[in-house]
Amino acid sequence: MDWFIRDFDHPAYFTIYADKAADAAHEGPALATLLDLPPGSRVLDLPCGWGRLHPYLRARGLKVAGGDLSPLNLAKHRAIHPAPLVRLDFRALPFRAACTDAVFCAFTSWGYFATEAENLRQLTEFARVIRPGGVLLLDLAGRTFLQSAMVGVEGEWMEFPEEGYQERAMWNPDGRRILTERVCQGEAFCHDIWIPTDAEVRACLDQAGFDVAQAYGGLDGRPWDEREERWIYRCIRR
Ligand SMILES: C[S@@+](CC[C@H](N)C(=O)[O-])C[C@H]1O[C@@H](n2cnc3c(N)ncnc32)[C@H](O)[C@@H]1O
Repeated sequence: MDWFIRDFDHPAYFTIYADKAADAAHEGPALATLLDLPPGSRVLDLPCGWGRLHPYLRARGLKVAGGDLSPLNLAKHRAIHPAPLVRLDFRALPFRAACTDAVFCAFTSWGYFATEAENLRQLTEFARVIRPGGVLLLDLAGRTFLQSAMVGVEGEWMEFPEEGYQERAMWNPDGRRILTERVCQGEAFCHDIWIPTDAEVRACLDQAGFDVAQAYGGLDGRPWDEREERWIYRCIRR
């Protein structure tokens, strides 16, 4: 089974990422500002997860629908933030072409697939459903920041007793992906995510049919810089 099917669709996910619930209070308004759309615009939140950013998009008058692969996340979203929601896989979106003004893709939700073709496919599917002139906001982890952060701790188990899990992260042998192993609630999980360079992100966006209009290095809208923790691309569908 692909890692992303299990890791996100397990109660342990909500323990491991518990701090992201509180983070939503500053991430949501900031990312909604960077998305920069007029009220009434149609937005697909892909993936929507359990909807932690949903209220902040709605607060800007956006018409938001969500999609995600995880039934557990979708059920929680439905209970907390009722909205039009659909279970889907990025590689084949169940929407007609040009049906939305924007796709909002937050919190390192690209690079999950094992092959470059599938990761590109996610972006070409986003491009297919966004109308020409519409927007993709792609919020990624900065590769150079991660490289620095892992020096000296790569492969070491770290304990998070209060949070209730252990974790170790390492680059795969070709240095293109990060494997993050976690043990939580007595079970083992392993994220396996491609961490592209800026040039790779831009090449894929271009190939999928997007122009990068703005690249930000943080939630405050500072300019992109190689060393920033977050790389946030606001792209226009050609
Ligand atoms: C890191 S979470 C981000 C969720 C949300 N954007 C947020 O900021 O809270 C990644 C999400 O991607 C979903 N996901 C993973 N693989 C997917 C796929 N192939 N198709 C659609 N969604 C997927 C997971 O179920 C999970 O909810």
